[in-house]
Formats: sequence, structure tokens, C-alpha cells
Amino acid sequence: MGIKIRITALAISILIISGCSNNSSQPDVEMEHSDMNQHMEEMHDMMEGHMSHDEVVPLNDSTGENELKIPAMLEPDNEEGIVYTVKAQKGQTEIFNGIETNTYGYNGSFLGPMLHFEKGDKVKIRTINELDEETTFHWHGLEVSGEADGGPHDALQPGEEKVIEFEVTQEASTLWFHPHPHGKTAEQVYNGLAGLIYIEDDNSKSLGLPNDYGKNDIPLIFQDRIFDDKHELNYNAAMNDDGTVGETLLINGTLNPKLTVNQEKVRLRLLNGSNARNYTFKLNTGDSFVQIATDGGFLNAPVTLNEVTLTPSERAEIIIDFSQFNAENDLALINEDGYVLLPFEISDQNGVNSEIPGELNDFTLTEEEKNLPVTKKVELFGMMDMVEINGKKFDPERIDFTQQQGVTEVWEIYNKPDMMGGMIHPFHVHGAQFKIISRDGEAPPQNERGWKDSFSIKPDETVKIAIQFKHKGVYMFHCHILEHEDNGMMGQVKVE
Ligand code: C2O
Ligand code: CU
Ligand code: CU
Repeated sequence: MGIKIRITALAISILIISGCSNNSSQPDVEMEHSDMNQHMEEMHDMMEGHMSHDEVVPLNDSTGENELKIPAMLEPDNEEGIVYTVKAQKGQTEIFNGIETNTYGYNGSFLGPMLHFEKGDKVKIRTINELDEETTFHWHGLEVSGEADGGPHDALQPGEEKVIEFEVTQEASTLWFHPHPHGKTAEQVYNGLAGLIYIEDDNSKSLGLPNDYGKNDIPLIFQDRIFDDKHELNYNAAMNDDGTVGETLLINGTLNPKLTVNQEKVRLRLLNGSNARNYTFKLNTGDSFVQIATDGGFLNAPVTLNEVTLTPSERAEIIIDFSQFNAENDLALINEDGYVLLPFEISDQNGVNSEIPGELNDFTLTEEEKNLPVTKKVELFGMMDMVEINGKKFDPERIDFTQQQGVTEVWEIYNKPDMMGGMIHPFHVHGAQFKIISRDGEAPPQNERGWKDSFSIKPDETVKIAIQFKHKGVYMFHCHILEHEDNGMMGQVKVE
């Protein structure tokens, strides 16, 4: 370990030296001399903490000894006027056989139930904080007013409750919810606060896609964790300012999961619910699958892929045709690096063999939208706790942008590399689903031509999005590496 750190530091010094000489031969006109000095000091501070864009610890293979848990669907309350109750609470969960781990959950000890909405529903949710610290209830991807969005301004103190109301106006999609308290989001999510939202509409019900929840329509929440020698999620010990990662994967809170499926088409709703890890999902056989939905709705047509990458908070719905396989295939969902995420046990039962329609949606990015001038620029920069947006850290008292309700604007997001190259940041905006216009001037890949609320952005990449807010309020935009968000890589847009 010590040796590795020293080598890393040496490599960084070399990078910094070469970075410096580049800078002196090609001075950046916009960088004042004093800024440069300060910047160098910061870089040295980074080195002192032996920080680099470290290799991410690999995941352990799933042994497949536990059947995947499926989150329960939340039943509405009978109480007059209240539709659902969502309670943040502490508890103990048997993640490891016979051992209780201290965890957080919604309406239970770990993770949360699935909330099922139909487009057009008028929803009331009574949110209750039963933790002994403040929390908020944020509905990631949901187009609601700032008042219902559950950003850091909406903290509920221990014991407090608040009823929020909204109408579901957006199309069928897989969204999620998680806490967003100022500076504490990463820890609370890590401890287990995350749940799913499904939205259905006439279109989704008419397509004939697999939709038997838990049978051939399966949510998969991917979260990597570190357990200490007492099998606890010790966030303070595990915490990494550049994003907490662990070698132990939980899917829907299940350790060493496997999924038993019939020989039929199965829809997997993938959610990267990790604090920081990126996943590239593949089948171990190299076989292809189709992606049918992005974060906020169906793609226009299924896209055939051999792999799909999700950065934190992104979702993809994919369909795997298990009628092509049998038990002998030892089929598994693996990560890019070959680690087994989810082995499949294929039963000899045939299921309903649905056809996937060739046409799923009518998403359009118009010429007009493509040609709108850029009116907001977002520059992501930094690493560890020195992360910033447009040179600033988050300030709850500062509004960074204003935008008119119902008016489409083009935002240009740029990931400015540092001297060590930089890193991928997942960029997310609250309160709206948006369209990716381009990545470095090129049309986005086929499987990003649908509604998005988060996307990955590589170092030195420029992404243009067309975004419109349907409601008013103050909304966050931030990096969804949760430690970056907590460290201030976040800004606010006020929609009026
Ligand atoms: Cu998942 Cu601020 O969001
Ligand atoms: Cu969000
Ligand atoms: Cu980041």
C-alpha cells in the first residue's frame, strides 16, 4: 500500500511538472498569475493527501447464493386525503447470513418500497423523518414544483413530517427517490436510503412489454459498499472524497444475488444507485440485448447493444431474451472488467413470449431546439473535496441561474480536465427531463436519444442539452458522485 502511494505521488509529480511546462509554453490567457500560484498550491495539497484519480477497487464476483430481493410495491393509505406515506427510518438488516447490520431505509430497515404512479395521478405523499438527523425526500427525475422536489432547502428535522402534492404529468419511466440534506446526501444514501418510482401511461400499457413486476419486469438497484469487520456500513471509515466505492455489490440490497427467470423475454430496469461507481453491463456470453428506455421514458425504437454504461443515478431499461438460453449457458450479467454482477438461473418454464414492438415512443429533438443559442454554461472542474461548478462551490444562498418556466434553453456543460487528466462526472438537473443535443458537436449515441435527467461527461467533453422546466421553483444541478455533490459540486437554477 505504502509503495503504491509513493509511486502514485511520483507519477503525479511528473504529471504536474509536464503540466507546468505545457502551461508555460502555452499560457492560458484567462488565468492570472496569482490564480496559477493558488492553483499550484491546491495541486500540491492534493499530492500531500496522496490523491490521484485512483484505480477503483474491483467488485467481488457474486456467488449467486441468494435469490434477488424485489422491493415491495407501496400500498396507498386508506386515510382520507393522503395517498402514500414514506418514512425515513433506522433499522437493522440481515445482509449477511445470521448477522444484523445497522442500516437506513424507507418504510423498512433497508432501501425502500417501489412507488407506482400513473400519468395523470394526483399524488399526495406524507413524508416523515424518523431518523435522528435531518433529511429530505427528493424525487429524482420527477417533474414537480420546487416545493415538492425535496432539495437541500426542504430539510425535515427528526420527528417532523410534511405532506407534498403533485400531479404526475410525465410519461412512463423508471425514476427513484433518495435524501438530499445539505452535506449529508452521500452518507444517507450509503446507509440505505433509496427507493424506486415507476410511472405508467397508456403507451406503456399498450406496448405489450414484459410488465409482471418481480417476474419478468425486474428492478435492479446496483450499489457497492464496504463492510467493516463487524459487518457494518461504517461510512466515515469508508468515505472517499472522490466518491465512495466498495468491493461488495448489493443489488436491491441483496448480497451475492442470483435471479431466477423463465425462458422468456425479461425486462431489467437498471439503476446505478451507487455513490460513485460506474458500471458497464454486459452478458458473459457476449450476446446482445436491447435497450428500450432511458432515464425519463422509452426510446423511439429498441436499440441493440452488447453493453450499456451507467454512471451514478442513470437508468436504462433493457430486455434480455431468455428463450434463447437454458440452464447450461451459465448466463450472467457481468461488469466490463468481467466481474459477475448477477448470475441468472434459467428455469425450464416457458414464459409469455412477448414481441418487442419496433416503435415505442415519439421522442423528438427538433431542428429549432438544435439551433437554439447556448444560454447557460456549466463548467465542471476538480476532484476530491476541491470540486466546483463555474469556479464556485455550492452556496444555498446563491442562485446561479434563472430560467423561465416553460421556455426551452440550451445548456452547455463542459468537463474541464485537470493536470492529471480529470475524471468522468455524472451531471444531473432536478425537476426536468431534458434532451441531449450533442456530445462534442456530434449527435449522441442511439441509446441516449430519449429523455434524460443525468448523463456522464468525460474530461474535456462538451455536452449540449435542451431543457425546459414545467414548474416553478429552485432546483439543484450537480455532479451525482454523491461525495462531489456534498463537497459543493452543485448549483441552483431558479425557475420563475
Ligand atoms: Cu438524484 Cu440531486 O439528485
Ligand atoms: Cu435529482
Ligand atoms: Cu464529480
